[in-house]
Amino acid sequence: MRVLFIGDVVGSPGRKGLRETMPGLREQYAPDLIVVNGENSAGGVGITERTANDLFGVGTGVITTGNHVYRHREAYDFIERERLVIRPANYPQGNPGRGFTVVEVGGTRVGVINLSGAIGLKVARSPFDTVDGILEQIEADAIVVDFHAEVTSEKVAMGWHLDGRVAAVFGTHTHVPTADGRVLPKGTAFISDVGMTGSRTSVLGVKPEQALASMITQMPTRFETAEGDVWVMGAVVEVNEKGLADSFTQVMVPAPVATS
Ligand SMILES: [Fe+2]
Ligand SMILES: [Fe+2]
Repeated sequence: MRVLFIGDVVGSPGRKGLRETMPGLREQYAPDLIVVNGENSAGGVGITERTANDLFGVGTGVITTGNHVYRHREAYDFIERERLVIRPANYPQGNPGRGFTVVEVGGTRVGVINLSGAIGLKVARSPFDTVDGILEQIEADAIVVDFHAEVTSEKVAMGWHLDGRVAAVFGTHTHVPTADGRVLPKGTAFISDVGMTGSRTSVLGVKPEQALASMITQMPTRFETAEGDVWVMGAVVEVNEKGLADSFTQVMVPAPVATS
């Protein structure tokens, strides 16, 4: 079974780029399950029912999120009822939504878990404790984790924590892909960050001149989603019958139609 994981889709340029790239990705990798981080899918920050449906429309099986999940209040009911959209499991209990879900893929039960790093981000509980608790109760044949975290040390540590226990740990949140993707010794595919799906003529998805103005002047600045040079970033993992990874392939491709 092959899982295609796609990093943070940023705004309509990211959604459009993903839509245009997906036929080629499907042909090249023939994924059985597509997992997409959608925390930036609505206007560059947050997610709504409409942008989630846009992502489902390209074949996405499960949508993960992160620190921007609750940006749009009108989406809370949707996040609460849609079991294929998940948010970090170590957020306060009672917050809208769930931290993991299980989908059936060709007779295999695949668990998808979303966690947030505790360093530099707000969480209610340790991601390490939280994932241990989930692994005790989840009924799945294979498990993939989106670890949405700021700091590479914490992400690498999570890879080792879960090595041999899940098929893959995909890092997200920084929007910058790292070069450490591989299968760890006990069979867990790991990468600190898969990067984002959005404009590379940007600072993490934001128009460069606006991000620069904010940093240089330290004045409140309007942020808009950049549009040029959209790339799709993610990874493909081949999962074996033991629920562990046979291979890891990084995906970094320009969207086929140049967005202007
Ligand atoms: Fe993000
Ligand atoms: Fe994030």
